Amino acid sequence: MRKQFAMVLAGGILGAGILATGYAAEGKPEDTVKYRQSLYNIIGWNFKPMGAMAKGEIPFDATAVARHAQYVEMMSKALPESFAQGTGPDAVKNTEAKPEIWTKTAEFDTKMKDFQREAAALNEVAKSGDEKAIKAQFGKTAETCKACHKAFRKD
Ligand code: HEC
Repeated sequence: MRKQFAMVLAGGILGAGILATGYAAEGKPEDTVKYRQSLYNIIGWNFKPMGAMAKGEIPFDATAVARHAQYVEMMSKALPESFAQGTGPDAVKNTEAKPEIWTKTAEFDTKMKDFQREAAALNEVAKSGDEKAIKAQFGKTAETCKACHKAFRKD
């Protein structure tokens, strides 16, 4: 009985998981931060070539964009869990996350959802191979990176 109740409770927490702070840190906070930074590294690595294409620095490559956009969307979905409670600068030294992430949670969650929505739209339009539409959607997605960094990442 008690075990069942605990599972229902855990399910409820996971169900509300879109809230960054709905997660409790599993294991060491340092490990969660490493995971978080790894996700952002994968996002950045895949975002960069798309940016260079958008600026016309390298030739547009629809196949590459489709692949990169897929990874960005996937990582965007994994991110909220990496902002578990107790993984801010008060607990961990090596992080650029601002403490406001865990106090202005509604604002942070909105910025996270904005990013996830635009990344999903980018992945969708990337499948079409439509260069103009892809570049426009890339721009929209990049805005959501900037908006969150401005508010919630130390320079
Ligand atoms: C909802 C907020 C948010 C969004 C959206 C966001 N970022 Fe970040 N980003 C952060 C925070 C916070 C950190 C600092 C993480 C840490 O050090 O713990 C970070 C760190 C990074 C890092 C450095 C990772 C490292 O090596 O430490 C890169 C690169 C990065 N972001 C790229 C991007 C790109 C590209 C996008 C958009 C495609 C993006 N981010 C969208 C909040 C965000």
